[in-house]
Amino acid sequence: MDYSRKISERLWNLSDKGELESHRETTFIDDIVQKSHIEKELLANLDGIKTVFDGGAGCGRFSILLAKQGCKVTHFDISQSMIDKAKELAEEAGVLDKITFVKGALEDLTAYHAKAFDLVISFDAPISYTYPNHERVISELVRIAKKRIMISVSSRLGYLPYLSNPLQKNQFILDKDCSDSWVQWCISNKANMVNSFAFNKVQVEKLLSDGLMGGAEEIAEYERGGTPWCITYTFMPNELEALLVKNGVKNVKLAGPGAYARTIPNELLVKIMNDSKQRMDFLDFCHEYDSNPYVCGMGKDNLFAKGEI
Ligand SMILES: C[S@@+](CC[C@H](N)C(=O)[O-])C[C@H]1O[C@@H](n2cnc3c(N)ncnc32)[C@H](O)[C@@H]1O
Repeated sequence: MDYSRKISERLWNLSDKGELESHRETTFIDDIVQKSHIEKELLANLDGIKTVFDGGAGCGRFSILLAKQGCKVTHFDISQSMIDKAKELAEEAGVLDKITFVKGALEDLTAYHAKAFDLVISFDAPISYTYPNHERVISELVRIAKKRIMISVSSRLGYLPYLSNPLQKNQFILDKDCSDSWVQWCISNKANMVNSFAFNKVQVEKLLSDGLMGGAEEIAEYERGGTPWCITYTFMPNELEALLVKNGVKNVKLAGPGAYARTIPNELLVKIMNDSKQRMDFLDFCHEYDSNPYVCGMGKDNLFAKGEI
């Protein structure tokens, strides 16, 4: 079995993962911007959509949204912990009967026939975690889609700035006093991250050329029984577009959720988020700006793509 899948299985099945992930939009502003972008895209593209496959659906951020819109959704994920949280949230939202929960890996979609779902979605990087099978996974997702596909994958140009800015997540902390362990880790490690930082040209050029985040170190940590972050394949915009086109997807449009927000310092982002009118206007404008094809590579973490079958 491939290491990416083994590492994902262990990491995403940690018992508190579902609970933590379900709170991301109350802890980090970049997550708010990204999920808002996707939500706007989904709600604007539901014409003729009755059935949906959500691959790597997590704790149900989008499967539940679509079930609430009346779609029949297959919520597919490698993690029982995420599925359990999604079931709890779907029940609270009153849409449990609209969703079929399936525990499985994107690397094997043979259970589904061609054009089985009107819409196929996979958001916030599950495809990137299937390295080295990411290209085959994309072609399988296209195969089971009848009308439309919408995905977001890790963005290579978007990730490269992380290597020169280990403080990047700090910019997006919404509430410095919240109890979320990741938020508190970012705050307490800030000085340490600055002190231990040195620009490493070899490292940035390696990521630019091979697109890979993680590898031998993660495999060794996994073998020692640890839970490293998933080995992640980051895509270039032209590469993602070409892959979709090669698989027969038409009218492909790319976007870079978070490109606008990453230019704004934390104090101002927090101010905007804490004012409901400014927040709504800001998220609308982010969607507009981040949909411009010239900024798609600079999306914060993800590269978004949609197309017709
Ligand atoms: C960052 S979360 C995104 C969740 C959701 N799509 C969203 O946008 O809110 C990534 C999800 O992908 C799932 N995942 C990772 N690798 C996978 C694989 N190989 N097959 C299926 N799901 C996978 C994880 O369990 C996790 O729920």
